[in-house]
Amino acid sequence: MSRANAAVLSEARAGCPEITIVVPCYREAANVRPLVEALTLALAGRSWEVVFVDDNSPDGTIDQIRAIAEVNWRVRGISRVGRRGLSSAVIEGALSSSAQIIAVMDGDLQHDETQLGALIDAVGDGGCDIAIGSRHVEGGDNSGLANAWRHALSDGGIRLAQMMLPVRVGDPMSGFFALRREFFDATAPHLSGQGFKILMDLILSAPEPVRVKEIPCMFRPRVAGESKLDVLVLLQFAGLMLDKLFHGWLPVRFLAFATVGAIGVTVNIAIMNIMHLAGADFEAAQATGTLVAILTNFWLDNTLTYRDRRLRGAQLYGGLIIFLLVSSLGAWANIGIAQLFRADGQGWGNASAAGAVIGVVWNYAVSSTLIWRP
Ligand code: GDD
Ligand code: MN
Repeated sequence: MSRANAAVLSEARAGCPEITIVVPCYREAANVRPLVEALTLALAGRSWEVVFVDDNSPDGTIDQIRAIAEVNWRVRGISRVGRRGLSSAVIEGALSSSAQIIAVMDGDLQHDETQLGALIDAVGDGGCDIAIGSRHVEGGDNSGLANAWRHALSDGGIRLAQMMLPVRVGDPMSGFFALRREFFDATAPHLSGQGFKILMDLILSAPEPVRVKEIPCMFRPRVAGESKLDVLVLLQFAGLMLDKLFHGWLPVRFLAFATVGAIGVTVNIAIMNIMHLAGADFEAAQATGTLVAILTNFWLDNTLTYRDRRLRGAQLYGGLIIFLLVSSLGAWANIGIAQLFRADGQGWGNASAAGAVIGVVWNYAVSSTLIWRP
């Protein structure tokens, strides 16, 4: 060990630091060391630590973190295996902290670490519960967003978010903020933990009205690695909003599953009609329509409904086989129940609706437990 490293190790410290910086990271190996260096400069004179929360990145992000943690006590790493998700990573990092103040920032150097001090001081003096690094207040800057498409996506999300928030926040999508530990502890039991928008989740889940302060910040362009946000993330965001709107009573995953099912029915009917027009016989048209619908459903459920438990590689084929079996059993249940209701003297509409409901509940229950296991 070099002398400089030994000096870092022997630095006197009493108890835990006053500030924990939580950094969610996925495939950020190249950014870890520069970020620790930037933090060391920006937070000089303060009592701080940084916790990187990595979801088993294939690029060895955690090795970078541990190599630095070995010689620098300010650096800790949490390695999560078998799970993905920005919000839940932030929550677990914050839960692992004993500090009075928690700050959250991205691990890709896009957030301006020189603003951390201002965020920390804003919550430190008790003037607010959350201090947000904001791109959408006077002096903020959003030039780091990759292209016009990302800008449109971001603006749409912000409008939607602002309609739901109990307090006025210019940049509710920011991933750069600081909060007090008591506030986090009071709010943590109510968090949804879904998706990418942990700040929204915090503000919407807080048991008391939140006192917010925004500090203008720059959002730098990403230099190394790539962004993990895409249009599906916006859909997930809509899911988080629905979840909060219905206070968790409406299972958003089930809604998504049922919607995907309805899309499957539409695909099935469309294909049957096309093949019928093309002169195919009924059996061939029905078989093709059903198969394409099931494949479409499987793909949509894998990329959307169960995005956080997504199957890949060999698992994908295993999952598909079970899905085919489950769907055909579901279809039998559907028909069987409909016939039962019909025999009971119910009209066609009621009988087939009952069959469809039982079919989708069955498919959902088995999919959630056997195919996309939590
Ligand atoms: N642990 C973990 N797990 N970390 C993740 C995951 C995940 O599944 N997905 C992304 N991250 C990390 C990234 O490594 C990065 O450090 C940070 O979360 C943000 O992800 P990016 O992929 O860089 O997001 P961005 O730059 O497109 O999005 C930024 O802007 C959003 C608003 O437009 C971020 O600042 C977001 O926090 C912000 O909400
Ligand atoms: Mn980024």
